[in-house]
Amino acid sequence: MGEVLGYKEFGGAEVQLSFERPDPVPGPAEVLVRVAAAGVNPLDHKLRSGHGTALNGHVPFPQVLGMEAAGTVLAVGSDVTGLAVGDRVTGFALTGAGTYAETTLLLGESTARIPDALPETWAATIPVAGTTALDVLDQLDLPAGASLLVNGIGGGVGIALAQLARDRGLVVTGTAGPAKRDLVTATGATFVDYTGGDVVERLRALAPGGFAAVADNVGGDSLRAVASLVADRGAIVSVGDPAVTELGGEVVRRRLDRANLERVAALMTEGRLDPHITRTYPLADAAEALALVESGHATGKLVLDLSL
Ligand SMILES: NC(=O)c1ccc[n+]([C@@H]2O[C@H](COP(=O)([O-])OP(=O)(O)OC[C@H]3O[C@@H](n4cnc5c(N)ncnc54)[C@H](OP(=O)(O)O)[C@@H]3O)[C@@H](O)[C@H]2O)c1
Repeated sequence: MGEVLGYKEFGGAEVQLSFERPDPVPGPAEVLVRVAAAGVNPLDHKLRSGHGTALNGHVPFPQVLGMEAAGTVLAVGSDVTGLAVGDRVTGFALTGAGTYAETTLLLGESTARIPDALPETWAATIPVAGTTALDVLDQLDLPAGASLLVNGIGGGVGIALAQLARDRGLVVTGTAGPAKRDLVTATGATFVDYTGGDVVERLRALAPGGFAAVADNVGGDSLRAVASLVADRGAIVSVGDPAVTELGGEVVRRRLDRANLERVAALMTEGRLDPHITRTYPLADAAEALALVESGHATGKLVLDLSL
């Protein structure tokens, strides 16, 4: 048995509830994991609200929140290769088991062993924010020296993008609210406050010839406004807004495989990527963590640390 935070129906935070559940039993393609840490992501509250039911529509209520976790393998499904009981791992709970939990099921193909030196709190941020940032940069495939505008640079994906883009030799500018100035500047990116007057004009003044590409984490009107700053509309990749295709850009193509997780783990252990975990929470306070993400203004990553 283990404690979880879930929801009994789709809706706002009021439908969330804590309850005990038996340890789930892994199917052939799954591994049972004792959760050490879990990432808190916008997708968690979007699924709870009933959006994206392609991902959780098959799961009976009460459902459990959370898509990603790091921890230790307790049992391995018969078809899973390359993982063994006792391995420290990170991965996606695409199984619907949820990760705001003491134990969960991760999908074997989307789970990777992690280096001994990597803390589970960092590893728990690899599946969602880490690989998304990597996928955006792979898709844009920009040469060193190119200018990249990261629209929404202060959250989990944005702060990873800032570092990985700089690591590839890109010249990075990013938009964020004023509270994130120091964090953004520390990554080497040029900070632009999107709340202070006409952000497009201030960005244009910084890059009169336009940006080579835009990586968008915000979508909506904000994306439409900054799209005018890139000459090649094909060089716009959005992580969340499918309407980017109407502007000539693309939605990020995601890679959820083990090799991609291992790439991000290596970048972390080599000191090239810091997830910037601004706060960790015990499982008992998971609702507070998700409420901050749901406000739309979290800084860096928020992580559940089950050792707390
Ligand atoms: N396709 C995928 O697989 C995938 C994977 C990961 C994430 N996503 C999506 O990507 C989006 C970002 O995810 P995340 O994990 O980075 O979220 P997050 O950690 O919650 O960060 C969101 C950030 O957006 C900033 N923001 C809000 N409005 C803004 C605006 N108008 N201009 C600039 N910044 C703004 C907020 O900072 P301020 O306080 O500065 O406003 C906040 O830091 C979400 O929609 C998420 O669902 C998709």
